[in-house]
Amino acid sequence: MVKAVVLGASGGIGQACPLVDELALYDVVNTPGVTADLSHISSVAKITGYLPKDDGLKHALTGADVVVIPAGIPRKPGMTRDDLFKINAGIVRDLVKGIAEFSPKAFTLVISNPVNSTVPIAAEVLKAAGVFDPKRLFGVTTLDVVRAETFTQEFSGLQDPSKATVPVIGGHSGETIVPLFSKVAPGFKIPADRYDALINRVQFGGDEVVKAKDGAGSATLSMAFAGFRFTEAIIKAAKGEKGIVEPTFVYLPGVEGGAEIAKATGVDFFSTPVELGPNGAEKAINILDGITEQEKKLLAACVTGLKGNIEKGVEFVKNPPPK
Ligand code: NAD
Ligand code: LMR
Repeated sequence: MVKAVVLGASGGIGQACPLVDELALYDVVNTPGVTADLSHISSVAKITGYLPKDDGLKHALTGADVVVIPAGIPRKPGMTRDDLFKINAGIVRDLVKGIAEFSPKAFTLVISNPVNSTVPIAAEVLKAAGVFDPKRLFGVTTLDVVRAETFTQEFSGLQDPSKATVPVIGGHSGETIVPLFSKVAPGFKIPADRYDALINRVQFGGDEVVKAKDGAGSATLSMAFAGFRFTEAIIKAAKGEKGIVEPTFVYLPGVEGGAEIAKATGVDFFSTPVELGPNGAEKAINILDGITEQEKKLLAACVTGLKGNIEKGVEFVKNPPPK
């Protein structure tokens, strides 16, 4: 039996994530409607919905194996993901306090932006509660990988773009997103005159959607696809399937192989291909050896931005701003 919980279940992303034996939905609004709607799907999953009243968060989280968090506000045109920190930092902190109390062993998958800061926030909350297991906390950066696979399809030549492996490392915002086109499989080449534009499109793909939606939010459908892909990978690996590797934003010092990457990059939180297993993040894979000079420059810019984002998240929990 796998119980999955979605915190922020009534939003654009949250509504689209059903997959398991038991699915508990929690949100501050609209969960009765989303629950009724999803419960008509002819799947084995038992669907339950909760609001904050009557200990809703506690009931949703109790017994959870996997908790997915897309709760929080999305961007509007002209905003950066960091602009979301003011509101989403507190939302993620409070939800993760609930996880620490009611489902401390659950795999926790953070989608809420800015991921570069909300994952460090989650880690600090779990640490403070004495239940932090770095192998079980993940920032979901799969959408960057999905975009990289899609935008390079004309060069990979694959009919199904998801059959390509296009590693994307670093963080999840602008220049902190680092596609490694030198490490694609099956090996294909990006023409030099297209390189900069492709890198830019992967790094700022989120802005493309925000602009096109013109005030109506950010990516939801492609994120639901990416979120499903990552959640399914976590569950399959937990059930014993071998050889599952997905890039994800983890606390490197707590994952086997991560210390080496932390040393090479100078940051403790970083997205890198991670081998998943029954206990979550089994091994962080270092793919930095042999990257090109162009990629080294991208990585340097990434690390500069990432350091500030991580520090901001850690500080938010250690020295909370006055209310
Ligand atoms: P949305 O506004 O459609 O949905 C967010 C939901 O969160 C709403 O239903 C809202 O009621 C709920 N919510 C707010 N406060 C809550 C709380 N305290 N407890 C529970 N639920 C709460 O937004 P969306 O488009 O679904 O995006 C959600 C978040 O995901 C945003 O921060 C967005 O930036 C982020 N996002 C991340 C990625 C990624 O790649 N990691 C991709 C897309 C969007
Ligand atoms: C994305 O990459 O689409 C998300 O992080 C949402 C956003 O704000 O761009």
